[in-house]
Amino acid sequence: MQAPYLAVANAEDLKPGEFLKVAADGRAFVIAQVGEDVYAVEDLCSHEDYPLSYGCLDGERIKCSLHGSRFSLKTGAPEDEPADQPIATFAVAIEDEQIWLDPSRATNAQPGNA
Ligand code: FES
Repeated sequence: MQAPYLAVANAEDLKPGEFLKVAADGRAFVIAQVGEDVYAVEDLCSHEDYPLSYGCLDGERIKCSLHGSRFSLKTGAPEDEPADQPIATFAVAIEDEQIWLDPSRATNAQPGNA
């Protein structure tokens, strides 16, 4: 895997139905596995900047433990109030027994935003 991807964890540490909190580029991310699919989102609720890693998975969603909003791990879209803005999603891959994350650009960012 090449830059901008960074190795952030051992693949064997991630299990289906679970998530890992990892650090890359000075920020925290959540890497989640649902079935065979692996997702990466910034560890930051869009409602009040609360760590999503304090919450839990609910299928292909992550639920914030502070006010209960759930977000799609695929798109970052909020599915419940009070959050009304998406969380940032990032490209992630598993190769050479490592989990690789591209923290340089949110995959769901609007044009012109980082
Ligand atoms: S801080 Fe996450 S829903 Fe309010």
